[in-house]
Amino acid sequence: MAIRKIGIVGCGLMGGGIAQICAQSGYETIVREVNQQLLDKGVARIQSAWDMMASKGKLTQGQVDENRSRLLGTLNLEDFADCDLVIEAVIENMEEKVRLFPALDRVLKPDALILSNTSSLNVTQMGAVTKRPDKVCGIHFFNPAPVMKLVEIVRTISTSQETIESVKQFAISLGKTTVLAKDTAGFIVNFLLIPYLLAAIRMLENGMATRDDIDTAMKLGCGYPMGPFTLLDYVGLDTTLWAAEAIYEEYKDPLYAPPPLLRRMVISGIYGQKSGRGFYDYQ
Ligand code: 3HC
Repeated sequence: MAIRKIGIVGCGLMGGGIAQICAQSGYETIVREVNQQLLDKGVARIQSAWDMMASKGKLTQGQVDENRSRLLGTLNLEDFADCDLVIEAVIENMEEKVRLFPALDRVLKPDALILSNTSSLNVTQMGAVTKRPDKVCGIHFFNPAPVMKLVEIVRTISTSQETIESVKQFAISLGKTTVLAKDTAGFIVNFLLIPYLLAAIRMLENGMATRDDIDTAMKLGCGYPMGPFTLLDYVGLDTTLWAAEAIYEEYKDPLYAPPPLLRRMVISGIYGQKSGRGFYDYQ
């Protein structure tokens, strides 16, 4: 099936980044948010990324305008009716996902693919609440989605080989490299990344080293682009907590048990860069 029109559910950090790269790669792209304020904010963030790219000479003003004309915002899922492929990028909450997937299943044409950008939740469960589980899989982007080269494709026990092939070609058309993972919590990257981030928080809790020294150590000692606390703030402490909880729930391995400090920061609305405060201050 030719993929021409993409729907993205959610225009937050990840949904917006995915919508940006889809429109930039020539796809007609429609993105849905739950209210006008969130939609305007998300689309403005995409526009400013394109303006930034134009200011660096990576895009011409004509290309910025073309990208913008391919991007449409909506508050109605019904507007996805003629999409060939839809990517869900809403909050990491299974109740939300299992409400959304049957709604998408009803609205979309029968051969459309429904993908989830979940970072660690069970994609099989999302497929199981649709009448097309063979056309459901995970497509996990990394933050910032327009820049990070990897996409994890997550295959459930019901996903067809045809779906996997189409999604792979689609991801390649966005300039991404793909890896294939089974639908187990955390897939490949978060199964390895989350325990590292949680261990850094435990080190801080236990007073083993300061925040700045831990960040400097991993940046300069391992050549990572960001230390763990900078990365935690960048990814979002709420997102990290949800991912840790999902993997812990599946394996009950203490490596994935969220440290008390992380939970308390999230309860207090301290989410990282997006809330203005995390392990660092951004105000
Ligand atoms: N659109 C297009 N280009 C963008 C962009 C956007 N939205 N945002 C940044 N860029 C470009 C910049 O223009 C810049 O391009 P240039 O080098 O050609 O000038 C380039 O990306 C790098 O950006 P900056 O110069 O602003 O900043 P840095 O050089 O410090 O790099 C970074 C920023 C790419 C975020 C780098 O620090 C990095 O790779 N950090 C690690 C990020 C990471 O690990 N992400 C994965 C997190 S895990 C995850 O997402 C999974 C989830 O499930 C938890």
